Amino acid sequence: MKYSNMLFLSTMMVFIFLSGCGQNQVEDQATTAHSTFSESDSLAYLQKGKTIAAATFVTLAGKLKAAMKSGGVSNAVSYCNLTAYPLVDSLSKVHDATIRRTSLKVRNPKDAPTPQEHAVLKMYQHQADTGKPQMPFVTTLEGERIAFYAPIHINALCLQCHGKIGETLSEDNYAHIKELYPQDEATGYTDGELRGMWSISFQ
Ligand code: HEC
Repeated sequence: MKYSNMLFLSTMMVFIFLSGCGQNQVEDQATTAHSTFSESDSLAYLQKGKTIAAATFVTLAGKLKAAMKSGGVSNAVSYCNLTAYPLVDSLSKVHDATIRRTSLKVRNPKDAPTPQEHAVLKMYQHQADTGKPQMPFVTTLEGERIAFYAPIHINALCLQCHGKIGETLSEDNYAHIKELYPQDEATGYTDGELRGMWSISFQ
């Protein structure tokens, strides 16, 4: 593991993210990364991040579907409320990584983005708004921890709880969501839209 190279890269990336930054600068940075950052390290963490995000998604989606089947959307909302956060937290222990889901519009205030995550979310949102693909990538945090980010998109299943109120998300279900999450901002989405991202960090 070439930490000195990663440190250099992270400093540059933070600088680029925070300095106003459109998509092109970030893409340029990704190109620079290949010459300064050990490509195999970067690829290994990218792969690890993708595997963990996929495994966590499968677990969450599987439990969600089962809860919806047994007691409808309302039951699944209660289920998510009780278990989504602890579940992701316990998977963090299994994978020896910190796994988070975050968004510019959160349902659970605990999922609110850190300043660094906010900068990445803004970049993904800008890419989505301008019709560009949003790609997973790795960088370093505080020069030590390695962070993986990947976009999360909405599909048909998600709309029942994150869609447009009175349309894809029923008034009744929304009322239940609001009871549990009075500050909920995570509605109004359409199929395929950017919902947020995975933020996974390794020690
Ligand atoms: C049955 C309702 C339901 C469905 C269906 C659902 N969600 Fe959620 N979602 C929730 C609830 C409730 C939370 C808050 C969980 C918590 O308290 O940790 C949440 C939280 C999230 C978060 C974490 C950020 C935040 O806003 O707190 C993301 C990201 C997310 N959902 C994406 C999705 C995606 C993508 C889908 C479809 C694959 C989906 N959800 C389907 C109810 C749902």
